[in-house]
Amino acid sequence: SAPLRLGIAGLGTVGVGVLRITRKHAKLIEERTGRAVTVTAVAARNRAKDRGVDLKPYAWEDDPVQLATRDDIDVFVELMGGSDGPAKASVEAAIAAGKHVVTANKALLAHHGQELAEAAEAAGIVLRFEAAVAGGIPVIKALTEGLAGNEITRVMGVMNGTCNYILTRMYAAELPYDVVFDEADKLGYLEADPQLDVGGIDAGHKLSLLSSIAFGTQVNFDAVELEGIERISIRDIEQAADMGYRIKLLGVAQMTGRGLEQRMSPCLVPAASPLGQLEGGTNMVVIEGDSVGQIVMRGAGAGEGPTASAVMGDVMDIARGLTISTFGKAASKLKPATPAKATVP
Ligand code: NAP
Ligand code: HSE
Repeated sequence: SAPLRLGIAGLGTVGVGVLRITRKHAKLIEERTGRAVTVTAVAARNRAKDRGVDLKPYAWEDDPVQLATRDDIDVFVELMGGSDGPAKASVEAAIAAGKHVVTANKALLAHHGQELAEAAEAAGIVLRFEAAVAGGIPVIKALTEGLAGNEITRVMGVMNGTCNYILTRMYAAELPYDVVFDEADKLGYLEADPQLDVGGIDAGHKLSLLSSIAFGTQVNFDAVELEGIERISIRDIEQAADMGYRIKLLGVAQMTGRGLEQRMSPCLVPAASPLGQLEGGTNMVVIEGDSVGQIVMRGAGAGEGPTASAVMGDVMDIARGLTISTFGKAASKLKPATPAKATVP
C-alpha cells in the first residue's frame, strides 16, 4: 500500500527523536505495519538551527497551520507544545483538513481535549496522544487495549520526572530545595515555565488525561486538586525518612459514589514500596482493575528516545489502519464526571 506520509511540527527534543526513528527503523516499521512511513514536511521556528539531523529530504514550512493542511501529508504530528497558540490552531486546521493527528502535548489536551476529540470524531479522523502521559511508558495502550475488559478502580503514579528528580536528590544528597532546583535548571530538566513542573501542573495535566481514559469521562483538568513541591523542605524529607517513608509528587484518581476524585500532591509513600524506590527522573504508573488487580509500569517519562517511541507507537497504529482515537470511538458520548473532593492520600 501507499506510504503513510507525516508532517511534523516541532523539531525540538521529541520531533528530532521521531525523525531519527523513522530513518533508523524504516524497514522494521514497514515490516510491522505493512506500509512505509515517510516524513514529507517539517516545521519549526528557526530554519537555520542545526538540529543534528539532515533536514534536506523534507519540505520546510514556517507556519505549522500550512504544514497541517498540506495535500501531501496523511498525519499531522504536533510536537511544539503549549495549550493554545500554534499548537491548537494547527491541530484544529489538521482536523478540519481531514488529517489524522498524533501529539505529545498534554497541556493542549488537558485544556481542549474534549472539543478536539469531538472535532476529530465529526471529521472521521484519528486523534492519538500516547506520548502525552508518562512519556515512553505505554500506559494509554495498556488501559485502552490490554486492560479493556476491566472496570478500572484507581490510577495513580509519579508522572513528572523533574519533581521526582528534585525530591530524590534532596533526600540522597541532603540538599535544600533551592539548590536542587538550580541543579535541575542547569541540567535542562525544567520546562520553560518551571511552575508547570514544580507546581504540579504538568503532572496534573497528565492525570486528567489518564483519568478520562480510565473512567470514560470527559477531561476535567480544572477539577484536579493540585499542590506542587515548592514548599517541601529538607526537614520534611528527613522526618519522612525517619518514619520509613519517602515524599513523592503523587497523582491519584478514583471514581467513587460521590464522583471522580483527582488529586496531584506531595504524599508520603513507604520507602520500601515500588513508588518509594522510584529514583531520579523516572515515572511510575499504577493501575488497578477489577479483574486484573494491580499493574505497575515504570520507565522514562521524558527524553528524546522514550517520548519519540510513544509517538511512533501511535503513528504505526494509524499505518496499520487502526481507526480508534485515544478517547475512544465516540468522544461526543463521554459524560462529564462529577468532581468529588479527594479523600485519597
Ligand atoms: P522543544 O524541545 O521545546 O521543541 C519545541 C519545537 O517546537 C521547537 O523545534 C520549536 O522550534 C517548535 N516551535 C515552537 N513554536 C513554534 C511555532 N510557532 N511554529 C513552528 N514551530 C514552533 O519541545 P519538546 O521537549 O520536543 O516537546 C514537544 C512536545 O512534547 C510538548 O508538547 C511537550 O510537552 C511534549 N513532551 C515532551 C517530552 C520531553 O521529554 N521533552 C515528554 C513528553 C511530552 P525551534 O526549534 O525553531 O525553536
Ligand atoms: N517536564 C516533564 C517532566 C517533561 O519532567 O516529566 C515530560 O512530560
